[in-house]
Amino acid sequence: ISLAVFNTLGLQQSCSSFVEVTHKAELVETCKDLYKQQLPMLILGGGSNVVFTDDFDGTVVKVATKGIQVTEDTDYYYLSVQAGENWHNLVEFCLNKQIYGLENLALIPGTVGAAPIQNIGAYGVEFNRFCYQVEFLQLDTGTLNHFDKDQCHFGYRDSIFKQQLKNLVVITEVTLRLNKQWQPIINYGPLQHFDPAQVTAKQIFDSVCKVRQAKLPDPKVLGNVGSFFKNPIVSSTCYELLKSRYAELVGYQQIDGRFKIAAGWLIDTAGLKGFNIGNAGVHKDQALVLVNLGNATGAEICQLARHIIQEVYDTFAVILEPEPRIMGSVEEIEIQ
Ligand code: FAD
Ligand code: EPU
Repeated sequence: ISLAVFNTLGLQQSCSSFVEVTHKAELVETCKDLYKQQLPMLILGGGSNVVFTDDFDGTVVKVATKGIQVTEDTDYYYLSVQAGENWHNLVEFCLNKQIYGLENLALIPGTVGAAPIQNIGAYGVEFNRFCYQVEFLQLDTGTLNHFDKDQCHFGYRDSIFKQQLKNLVVITEVTLRLNKQWQPIINYGPLQHFDPAQVTAKQIFDSVCKVRQAKLPDPKVLGNVGSFFKNPIVSSTCYELLKSRYAELVGYQQIDGRFKIAAGWLIDTAGLKGFNIGNAGVHKDQALVLVNLGNATGAEICQLARHIIQEVYDTFAVILEPEPRIMGSVEEIEIQ
């Protein structure tokens, strides 16, 4: 079965078997069975953060479970959402119900179940701000367990689901908690012009959608996985040194004193914007996005990524790490 329409890079790899599950019980039983038989499996949501470098020699389980349940207490709304719901649809659903908070995270592709994995973030907000509980199937015991926010060890594009629990769990349901007393978050560049006393959630939503549509290529037109690298976090010494050489360096201080620097700026300044290898390219307007220029292979994308890592390292002595998950024939692999 071809995976081309199931990954936003549009890579034309296939898998030996494919099953789409629409109910939680089916998701659980399917994954338990595959695990018991020790068959390679890949849990797939929207395919917006995976790079297929080979045909997958196993079963792809596409999570298409649906359902949003809203409850409330005096101070909060709680939304229990099935893993296969589309993230952006959830953001719109909330806005329409006058449940505010998620608007900064509009238009992030993919499923709700994948959101905790890399703790999706944009425009000054990360998923963990609203995370109340993550429910998952623990594959070795076959039981459904849940973690509260602290147990998920969220970080910048990181969580326990990418670390200790990698390949060991399947996220089945996510519960978000949204404060009834809405507070706009408008400290990020293009939102700073809003007046905090006047701005509405809808205005933030519209503004985020507009900026994203202008900045990021639409995967339907030009295959991509959003940012291909994480913005590296460096020591203040490293930041000061770079800043003394490159006054225009873009960096933001973190609570721990280190600096997050813009990988897009590093790649751009290294002269790689618009650079291609085969059919894989660095996007001409946004250097952090690698694109499929037409029939690219995952191998070409990875070759381009390795070239970028090397050039950025040679120029700035900063190591870039890929953000998407690179898949080999039976499991996730390192880009090396
Ligand atoms: P997939 O790509 O299907 O899967 C990603 C990984 O999670 C895989 O390893 C998969 O096995 C695993 N997985 C998926 N679902 C489950 C589950 N239920 N249980 C266990 N494992 C699972 N990300 C941001 O953080 N911020 C952005 O602003 C942003 N912008 C983007 C813009 C574009 C145009 C694109 C294409 C991507 C962008 N991304 C962004 C990345 C992407 O949207 C997120 O990583 C998203 O959470 C991926 O969801 P998905 O369902 O497509 O995951
Ligand atoms: N920049 C350049 N040249 C480029 C690209 C960017 O100089 O080619 C500079 C910009 O001028 C800006 C800085 O780099 O000063 C940062 O750029 P931008 O605000 O576009 O954000 P980003 O670092 O490219 C990050 C996230 C995005 C998220 C946006 C908005 C990461 C890895 N990426 O992108 O997330 O949507 O901020 O918050 O943290 C994703 O993870 O897939 C993703 C798209």
